[in-house]
Amino acid sequence: MDNQDGNRHLKPSRRGFITNLIPSRKGFIANYPNFQHWKKISFEARPDNEPINIYLHIPFCIQRCAYCYYRTTPLKGKKQSGLTDNYVKALCSEIEMASTFFNLKNRPVISVYFGGGTPTILNGEQFVRITECLKEHLNFDHPEFTVEGEPITLTQQKADILKLHGVNRISLGVQSFHSDILKLAKRLDAEDQVLKAIDIAKTTRSVINIDLLSGLAGETDQSWAYTIERALNADVESITIYKMELYANTVYYREVRMY
Ligand SMILES: C[S@@+](CC[C@H](N)C(=O)[O-])C[C@H]1O[C@@H](n2cnc3c(N)ncnc32)[C@H](O)[C@@H]1O
Ligand code: SF4
Repeated sequence: MDNQDGNRHLKPSRRGFITNLIPSRKGFIANYPNFQHWKKISFEARPDNEPINIYLHIPFCIQRCAYCYYRTTPLKGKKQSGLTDNYVKALCSEIEMASTFFNLKNRPVISVYFGGGTPTILNGEQFVRITECLKEHLNFDHPEFTVEGEPITLTQQKADILKLHGVNRISLGVQSFHSDILKLAKRLDAEDQVLKAIDIAKTTRSVINIDLLSGLAGETDQSWAYTIERALNADVESITIYKMELYANTVYYREVRMY
């Protein structure tokens, strides 16, 4: 057997699991066009009115989900305020330095994306500090302003703060509406909390996206159909469906290797 990742001679074990798979990102398209086709243009050569898109990574979550390979630090059981406060402080310095170094002050910012991790884990004061810093050092031009979040972290109070400070798109990581499957994935949400978070997000009148993840442990045709039905009934503007990717830094990977 062969595949795009160069994994030749994959052998299914007696129990049907492939045991000699070497995880690789070869063949995986993370961005298009690929880096090697990017043209090097110096920042000085760019017109200083060219629009820019800003991505901010918030590398914290409450827990590490069993399938997740993203760069994040689980805060459950840790004293979180020191860690996140230090990060917010460092992020604000980076924004200021980047604005000066790359001469970004006049370029219109047309989109802002707080991704994670779980940006909604920040408290209101931390979120406002970052947003104020962006507005001070960059030129907001009515950007599409997205914040990603885990349902359990989105309270009404936080949603009101997001709205007040210009967020107009909220992307919730739902993954599944099936509480048993969420539990197996080591997530803390259950279906009722997910539905509540969607209702809270809607009060902001933002565009709402929900992420679903197909291929979670325990999934059956019936549980997936249940999730899809609930997602359609949720009446949100967009649904993104991810297909499970198995990476070596996940609990799922360690569990599969045990067979
Ligand atoms: C950075 S996460 C942010 C969402 C938010 N932290 C949450 O989980 O509620 C973005 C999305 O990546 C997807 N994702 C995470 N691990 C994945 C994996 N192993 N394979 C495919 N998609 C994955 C999930 O659907 C998740 O909602
Ligand atoms: S899926 Fe979301 S909440 Fe879970 S560990 Fe990954 S980033 Fe954090």
